Amino acid sequence: MLNMHPTPTLSHLKPADYQHVYEPAEDTFLFLDALEADVNFIISRSPVVSLEIGCGTGIITTFLQTLLTSHGIPLLSLTTDINPQACKATAATALSNRTSVDAIRTDLAFPLFPRMENGIDILLFNPPYVVTESEEVGSTGIEAAWAGGKDGREVVDRVLRLIPRMLSKNGIFYLVTIRENKPQEIMEYMSTTYNLRSDVVLSRKAGTEGLSILKFYYPA
Ligand SMILES: C[S@@+](CC[C@H](N)C(=O)[O-])C[C@H]1O[C@@H](n2cnc3c(N)ncnc32)[C@H](O)[C@@H]1O
Repeated sequence: MLNMHPTPTLSHLKPADYQHVYEPAEDTFLFLDALEADVNFIISRSPVVSLEIGCGTGIITTFLQTLLTSHGIPLLSLTTDINPQACKATAATALSNRTSVDAIRTDLAFPLFPRMENGIDILLFNPPYVVTESEEVGSTGIEAAWAGGKDGREVVDRVLRLIPRMLSKNGIFYLVTIRENKPQEIMEYMSTTYNLRSDVVLSRKAGTEGLSILKFYYPA
């Protein structure tokens, strides 16, 4: 059954915080459901290090931490966000939920490489996926939470190109998409270019959004 694991508390965040930091929504909660649904697969890959790009409130990584801890698996969790307020919120969320998460303010994950080259076992990304004008992409404020440019893919595609440098050989990459992002095309690209297998872990219609959580991993 889905969602038996408790959702992290965000009671330390106030409505005014959500003027600056992405407020968890259907995409976020579908992500939590997907991680819980996939926990046996995650455990089977013996993860040690996770990295979330675009952590927002930090709810996803905090959930992953507590989920794996409940299965006796300790995890080193790193997160990044281009928005400094999101990094602050993530640190506070981890503390409020008695977990340990590091939040780094940066574009994608560049300062972590080459040191963490192929060192990420669980990579998480709920990107800015909304189709917008390209000019709207690249802010460091709340707009960065949704503005995805052409096909909602401009930030996503930058991350896809980094995957072979980031993922460990047992690594799993989880990605949120909407229909407009052409998830099938992403899955084909990752297969033909990087030999990564992919599955749709969960899909849900939320209002007009056809959300899916995809996962990518190397064949055993
Ligand atoms: C849809 S929100 C997701 C927030 C949170 N992970 C969640 O699911 O609730 C996307 C997040 O990505 C961040 N972001 C956008 N572009 C980024 C970039 N180039 N590097 C790092 N983070 C970025 C935004 O600031 C925002 O916090």
